[in-house]
Amino acid sequence: MEVAEEAQVSESQIAVHWREEDYYQPPPTFIAQANAADPAIFERFSEEHFPECFKEYADLLDWDAYWHTTLDTSNPPFWKWFVGARLNACFNCVDRHLASSGNKAAFIWVPEPEDEETKAITYQELYRRVNEFAALLRDFGGAKTGDRITFHLPMLPELPVSMLACARLGVIHSEVFGGFSGTACGQRIADSESRILVTMDAYYRQGELIDHKAKADEAIEVARQQGTEVEKVLVWRRYPGEYRSESPMVDGRDFFVDEVLKDYRDQVVEPVSMPAEAPLFLMYTSGTTGQPKGCVHSTGGYLAYVAGTSKYYQDIHPEDTYWCFADIGWITGHSYIVYGPLALGTTSVMYEGVPTYPDAGRPWRIAERLGVNIFHTAPTTIRMLRKLGPDEPPKYNHRFKHMTTVGEPIEPDVWRWYHDVVGKGEAVIVDTWWQTENGGFLGSTLPALKPMKPGSCGPGVLGIYPVIYDEESNEIEAGSGKAGNICIRNPWPGIFQGIWRQDDRFVQTYYEKYCRNKESTDWRDWPYFAGDGAVQAADGYFRILGRVDDVINVAGHRLGTKELESATITVDEVAEAAAVPVIDELRGRAVEMYVSLKPGHEGSDDVAQKVEKAIETQIGKIARPKNVWVVPDMPKTRSGKIMRRVIAGISNFADVGDVSTLANPEIVDEIREQIQSEKVARGETPRELTPEELEEIKAFGRVE
Ligand code: WTA
Repeated sequence: MEVAEEAQVSESQIAVHWREEDYYQPPPTFIAQANAADPAIFERFSEEHFPECFKEYADLLDWDAYWHTTLDTSNPPFWKWFVGARLNACFNCVDRHLASSGNKAAFIWVPEPEDEETKAITYQELYRRVNEFAALLRDFGGAKTGDRITFHLPMLPELPVSMLACARLGVIHSEVFGGFSGTACGQRIADSESRILVTMDAYYRQGELIDHKAKADEAIEVARQQGTEVEKVLVWRRYPGEYRSESPMVDGRDFFVDEVLKDYRDQVVEPVSMPAEAPLFLMYTSGTTGQPKGCVHSTGGYLAYVAGTSKYYQDIHPEDTYWCFADIGWITGHSYIVYGPLALGTTSVMYEGVPTYPDAGRPWRIAERLGVNIFHTAPTTIRMLRKLGPDEPPKYNHRFKHMTTVGEPIEPDVWRWYHDVVGKGEAVIVDTWWQTENGGFLGSTLPALKPMKPGSCGPGVLGIYPVIYDEESNEIEAGSGKAGNICIRNPWPGIFQGIWRQDDRFVQTYYEKYCRNKESTDWRDWPYFAGDGAVQAADGYFRILGRVDDVINVAGHRLGTKELESATITVDEVAEAAAVPVIDELRGRAVEMYVSLKPGHEGSDDVAQKVEKAIETQIGKIARPKNVWVVPDMPKTRSGKIMRRVIAGISNFADVGDVSTLANPEIVDEIREQIQSEKVARGETPRELTPEELEEIKAFGRVE
């Protein structure tokens, strides 16, 4: 019964009928200056030249020793790139630019309060700061090559300084997004067994100086409960010399970095020459089950991949002023604020705060004042800026040659506002599809060589050969109008090396589904399963439909339903919990929690508030649900599984599909009546959903 039911909603059966959008051609002025303007590049990266084609990316770096094997597939799917080679990532991002560009700004940092001074950090200054902090980590912190260090840092220059200092020593950094809770940070400290936590006392968000150090104390307690004792907490201060947190410093454990650094003034640390295959950093992300996974990214392959894609897809030239408006706490920031742009020696803008502070003209004021010509952000930011300041961009004299959208599907209508109003009709746009696991872009148009199509990311990027499979591993053809699971047929240098200390989970999650032969060492037998649904148009462009697993993408941030549900059932009264996505005009998707209570408890606002609090404490504010619904019971299959797609249908005012196989079909109408009338009363009736959105809701919860 259940199998049939699942097959019925499988992605492969979905025919998607969307309106084909018109193409937009890149302007001749852009083409004239583009890094990739000769179509011969497609031939160089064709399958026939794989994997050697990636030498073109590797050649953008300085290597201490060259590789003897470009791609080693002997232990699939643990691919090894540039085997035998050695390099240092920090040297490539900093030292090698000193001779030609020492006085050029590496970062221009913009504080959130508009009356505070913008700071430029030259490559020379970055070199000095990174060396001093590396010396501190090594000599004061006792950090050794291969150790892990967790950061819980906001958007201040101290974050890239800390990352590069680790890279210089061959220490693996693991940055936890500053907005995550202390508990979430603590779990990641424990999973990576970090003995050092680097944090900051405070930072600005929405006009408020937030006490951040307080989270460190929670994090350390959680890590201790999970078996990891943090020995040192290194606290950067937002205003050196002034402590702006209420949380007490623990004697012998907590240290102000600005004070300790006095002992390391002008010290220089030799960059450690690392094997290309050594891990550079961990980046945790949510999955279908269990705890977040620590994606392990390599030094050589990763750095080559982000440098190459920054050059050709971001079209970064050394003289550009580039602004990626993302948080370094996510993979986008690691690859396209720190490692990619610095490897190319460009100037990057870094901004501390929220896009709409103090008003929705802020980003355009910054861009005008600093002469930003490449702009990079997520649909959720674009939607917010359009809603709160639709007429702001024309008031400013910024001129973008190039703009990026990343992290979620972008609605064609939002895309057109970005193009016409933000980009003033002059900028090319790349819609880049990829994931934390991938290191860099997977799907995008090459900006000077392929036209743009709103709502589609484009074809696979250079050297990436995607395919769409149905549930039975049959290839779905381009132009068939059918959706399926998008996979990448080949390995690439930016692919993660695995999940930290969870090899089986890595193979299972990403390769098991479509592996043709487990004994084979031929990469062709090991397609990478991305976990996204997609459709390919006849022109080869992909339209990404969203996750096919139980991950909800809220404002470009991945949240696992299991994590949300585990946090929720820590509330005493709660018996069962289910998280589902609702279509949200600003954030793309928002989370709604359904809870049923233990016998003897009654639903009240109190429970809803406790649930919100639990989620905020265990994950962070970004995960806060839009609504918490206390229901008499959950719709369940006969084997007792909660049918999330039914609840998702109710939350989105969509068809709930066939409920005849449920153990308690009568509950569906009861919940529908309760939730939908309450939503109508709150003014939360949704607009009419698109066919793709409806299919997404229908498919939700399929992978269980
Ligand atoms: C989604 C962010 C449509 C997708 C870099 C993917 C996108 C997940 C796009 C990864 C895009 C990312 N169009 N959907 N251009 N980019 N996604 O790991 O569902 O935070 O699997 O990496 O975001 O999110 P992550």
